[in-house]
Amino acid sequence: MKTLVIGTGGREHALALALSRDPVVTEVHAAPGNPGIAAVATLHAVDPMDGAAVADLAVTLGVDLVVVGPEAPLVAGVADAVRDRGVACFGPSREAAELEGSKAFAKQVMAAAEVPTAMAHLCETPDEVAAALDAFGPPYVVKDDGLAAGKGVVVTSDRDEAVAHAARCGRVVVEEFLDGPEVSLFAVTDGTTVVPLQPAQDFKRALDDDAGPNTGGMGAYTPLPWAPDDLVADVTRRVLQPTVDEMARRGTPFQGLLYAGLALTSRGTRVIEFNARFGDPETQVLMALVDSSVATLLHGAATGTLDRVGLPRWRRGAAVTVVVASKDYPASPRTGDEITGVADADALEGVDVVHAGTRLDDDGRLVSSGGRVLSVTARGDDLDQARERAYAGVALITLDGSHHRTDIAARAATVS
Ligand code: AMP
Ligand code: GLY
Repeated sequence: MKTLVIGTGGREHALALALSRDPVVTEVHAAPGNPGIAAVATLHAVDPMDGAAVADLAVTLGVDLVVVGPEAPLVAGVADAVRDRGVACFGPSREAAELEGSKAFAKQVMAAAEVPTAMAHLCETPDEVAAALDAFGPPYVVKDDGLAAGKGVVVTSDRDEAVAHAARCGRVVVEEFLDGPEVSLFAVTDGTTVVPLQPAQDFKRALDDDAGPNTGGMGAYTPLPWAPDDLVADVTRRVLQPTVDEMARRGTPFQGLLYAGLALTSRGTRVIEFNARFGDPETQVLMALVDSSVATLLHGAATGTLDRVGLPRWRRGAAVTVVVASKDYPASPRTGDEITGVADADALEGVDVVHAGTRLDDDGRLVSSGGRVLSVTARGDDLDQARERAYAGVALITLDGSHHRTDIAARAATVS
C-alpha cells in the first residue's frame, strides 16, 4: 500500500513511523513533513491547507491512502478534496470535522445522542458570560468556540481572569467544572463501525504537578493501569458509537479518528471535548505499542470496510512520551535555537525521537521552529522502564531555554 501523510507535527511523525514499519506499506510520502519524517518518508513541499494541491499530489503519486493529520486542513475540507478525486482518505469531511471545529456544535450532537458531558452555556455577550459564570460558580471553565490548538480553554477560580478570557475570544462556551482524572480514548471509524484504541493519558498543563497554563500536551503514556477494566467498552457504548450514529443520522457521517477527551468524575464518565483527528502526543505512545497493521486499519475506515478489519493488537508493556518545549512555550515560544543530541537519544533501546517543531536551517543545522519542538517516545516492559528510557533520551538532548515536565506517567508508574 502506498501512503501519504499530511501535516508537519509529532503526530504525523509518529504515524509515518508506524506506516514505515508496517509490512503492508510499500511507500510512505508526507507533505510537507519535517526533518524527522524525512528519515522515514519522501517529503513533498505542498501546503497542507490547499485541498486541490494535496489531491493533485495524491493522484500524481498514485497513493492508496491519504491520512490527514491536523484539524485545520480537516475543518477546511482537505479530506473532501482528496476523496472527490477518487483517492481513499482517512479523515472526516469538512462538515463532520465541526465536531472539533465548533464546541457549540459538539454540544448539540452530544445532547441529541445523549452522551454525558459537562453542562454548558453558549455565550455571545459579556452579560451572558457573567450569568453563566455565576450559575456554575468556581472553578470557572471558559472555552473559545473555535479552533485554538489546545490553548483556547481557561480553567480558573479567578472570576476576573475568566471574564477577561471570554472577552478576548468573543463567542465562548462556559461550562461546569469536571473533577477527576482525564483519559484520551480514540476510535477509528468508517462512519458505521467503531474500533476503539487503547486508552492513553495526556498532560495538558505546562508545568509539573499540573501547574501552569494549558498547552497542546506536554507528554503522554499508555496503557492506564489505574483505569477501570470496562472503561473502553463503556465509553464505546455510551459515547463513541452513539456519536458516530448521530452524525450518520444527520447526513454528515464521521469517518476518521474520533477522539474523546474524558473526565472520570465522581458522578461518572463525562466527555470534555471531541477532536476529529489523532491526538498529539497520545498518538506517539499508541503508535509505539500498536502491533497490527495501522495502514490496514486506516484504509478500512477510509473505504467503509472497517467491519472486516478486526481489532488492533497491542504489544505488552507500556509507552511514555515526554515533550521538549521551546523557551517560553506556550505564551511566546522562541524559535530558531539549535537542537543537538537527537541521534544519540534515538539510538537508545526502545526510543524514538519524534519531531514536532523542527527544521533544518541554511547551514543544515537542526533548529526549533515551534512551541512543542520534539518528544522522546520510549517503549518498556512497564511504565517505569518506559519512563526511564524516555527521560534518558531527554537528558541527551540540548536546546537552549527548553523545558519539559519531569512527572510524565510518574503517578501511574507507582500503581502499575
Ligand atoms: P479542551 O480543549 O476542551 O480539551 O480543554 C483543555 C483542557 O482544559 C482539558 O484537557 C481539561 O484539562 C481542561 N478542561 C476543559 N473543560 C473542562 C471542564 N469542564 N472541567 C474541568 N477541566 C476542563
Ligand atoms: N493531546 C491533546 C490534543 O491532541 O488535542
